[in-house]
Amino acid sequence: MNMNIAVIKGDGIGPEVVTVAMNVLDAICEKFGHTIHYEQLLMGGCSIDATGVPLTDEAVSKAKAMDAVLLGSIGGNTSTSPWYKLPPNLRPEAGLLKIRKELGLFANLRPANLYPQLNGACPLKEEIAKRGFDMMMMRELTGGLYFGERRTEEIDGVMTAIDTLTYNENEIRRIAIKGFDIAMKRRKKVTSVDKANVLDSSRLWRKIVNEVALDYPEVTLEHMLVDNCAMQLVKDPAQFDVVLTENMFGDILSDEASMITGSIGMLASASLNETKFGMYEPSGGSAPDIAGLDIANPIATVLSAAMMLRYTFDLDREADAIEQAVVSYLDKGYRTGDIMSEGMKKVGCSECGRLIIDFIKKE
Ligand code: IPM
Ligand code: MG
Repeated sequence: MNMNIAVIKGDGIGPEVVTVAMNVLDAICEKFGHTIHYEQLLMGGCSIDATGVPLTDEAVSKAKAMDAVLLGSIGGNTSTSPWYKLPPNLRPEAGLLKIRKELGLFANLRPANLYPQLNGACPLKEEIAKRGFDMMMMRELTGGLYFGERRTEEIDGVMTAIDTLTYNENEIRRIAIKGFDIAMKRRKKVTSVDKANVLDSSRLWRKIVNEVALDYPEVTLEHMLVDNCAMQLVKDPAQFDVVLTENMFGDILSDEASMITGSIGMLASASLNETKFGMYEPSGGSAPDIAGLDIANPIATVLSAAMMLRYTFDLDREADAIEQAVVSYLDKGYRTGDIMSEGMKKVGCSECGRLIIDFIKKE
């Protein structure tokens, strides 16, 4: 197969971890006889420095012409970086929101599972960690508070900031359908998370999710309030299969879910639209404090590349090979600093990549 992939290395640790993921993809191509054409694009702070804006329209058109986007991370230190002195619509994050919207990437999938090898890195009590967990966070990505009207103005002499949270039934229905479709391929349970005891948008969310559920009689649906969900994630994460929620709640809960896996450096993500197109990126941020030190954990990005092979290109065998190589790497006791524990072998970012590639070649 010939794959056309837009690569956005971005800021901070982005370039290091994406380089590792590209090397891993190249090793897969060699092993399974595929070719990849990469198109490098700028987004985030590096784009601001080069073009004055966090994402040019030209970069958007180029991304649209490819089959998928592999993204590192964007942004810098919000207290010290000059990028955060710019107006909000010119800051690095605006580039990310723009590409999500322009490419219609409404479904964000963040799998959070605890590798048994990393039980020790899990911050939960041992009796909870040893039960394990394997959930798919499904976050609506192009609506809600992130894309509502906002402004800051003086009202009756008082500075006032307004953000609006809007969802229409179509936006809710399409993400719910994706959530149930994915649940059908997993353990057939959906936990829909909202704040229906307060918000109108959540009450509509619940109504539409209930309607969609009628088409999936095999899937068990439960509704959970977001504050309770935050609590349940640390108390009993094994109860979750697919967690379906709106944009802002999903942003917060997916960080929580990632942390209980031991490190955000392990968590992949996929952002999908209605076609096979997807943008694949690690769930973590740009970690400017460790950028350029070759110590970041590239596994989240490597596993995102595996998700790309699976969801955009239907290359399940190749995706399995990457995931299996990551398991072998962990089995053999290799760890980057974020998941390091006693008795393990500490490695850096690029060395982690070389080891994973060795396992791919050997398997
Ligand atoms: C994420 C990030 C982004 C978000 C930021 C960088 C705008 O936190 O992908 O979860 O809030 O969506
Ligand atoms: Mg986030």
